[in-house]
Amino acid sequence: MHVKAPIRPIIDLSLKADGSTDTALFARDVVAGLSKKQKTLSSRYFYDATGSKLFQQIMALPEYYLTRCEFDVLTEQKQAISARFGSDGFFHLIDLGAGDALKTKILLRELYQQQQEFDYVPVDISGDAMLHLTHALQAELPKVKVQAVVGEYFRALEWLQEHKHERKVVLFLGSNIGNFNKDESLAFLKVIRSYLKAGDKLLMGLDLRKDPDTILQAYNDPTGVTAAFNLNLLERINRELGGNFVLENFRHFATYNPLEGVMRSFLISKVKQQVHLAAADQTFTFDAWEAIHTENSHKYTLEQAQEMGKACGFRTETVFQDQQGCFADVLFAVE
Ligand code: AVI
Repeated sequence: MHVKAPIRPIIDLSLKADGSTDTALFARDVVAGLSKKQKTLSSRYFYDATGSKLFQQIMALPEYYLTRCEFDVLTEQKQAISARFGSDGFFHLIDLGAGDALKTKILLRELYQQQQEFDYVPVDISGDAMLHLTHALQAELPKVKVQAVVGEYFRALEWLQEHKHERKVVLFLGSNIGNFNKDESLAFLKVIRSYLKAGDKLLMGLDLRKDPDTILQAYNDPTGVTAAFNLNLLERINRELGGNFVLENFRHFATYNPLEGVMRSFLISKVKQQVHLAAADQTFTFDAWEAIHTENSHKYTLEQAQEMGKACGFRTETVFQDQQGCFADVLFAVE
């Protein structure tokens, strides 16, 4: 019995478990997206080596409040959060999209101090990041057992399924859930829920609704790092699929819809132009000022956050927030 069939339509399976992109599938997705009436490219393809580095830079930007606010939540409430993880003995701490685990390390240090029994399972698409993290943790917290998993989210789901009967706490931080659309989020959380048992937990980070200007600035930083992050998608297509996008002919544009609570990012063609994709031997025409939609970043009310958990079979145990109410880490329990 394998879960791949039911999750195939929703969860990305186009990236191999070793983290490398299957070029044919990447090409297929790009062709499908650029053939639509309203052109799209998936934000999942942002994270090649350059994109991952740019995202690290975004997280350090003063305008990108998300990382700083979640850092505050975890720093200010690490004792209470950690105490709730380990009330029932040994557990696996699974960190979806761990990266450099800068925020998770706050909890790891606290769990270690509280002498909790756990091992740490960071999951990330970047093999490099997982190697660095494993070494860094060996040096800093040598007694914490680390089993890094390199792969996309579906690989994490496989790991959860393989360890279905063991105690688990899943971390899904950084408002990464916000990059899924509503159906995808629900489907993803339901699959996670199906691999958890009573007593298991999920700590999920969610960016909260706030002054639209604050949100706009976070995705339109004056130094242009976010623009470079978005435009790198075209550079990646050039590199990996033999595209001939002229980057100067496109610009980053990000706008917030306060009714829906969605930040949408686009790449806008500044001129009428044609772009050829050698890997698919296809040419795409762009009108002047035509947009490619590249990303959604959802912002939530606390009610929506809890509803989402409830719809997927979770009970809200505690909502941890920073003092300004910018960001929430919601602890969901399985009963
Ligand atoms: C990874 N994800 C939660 C980020 C976000 O805020 O949607 C990606 C990002 N896109 C632009 N800036 C950051």
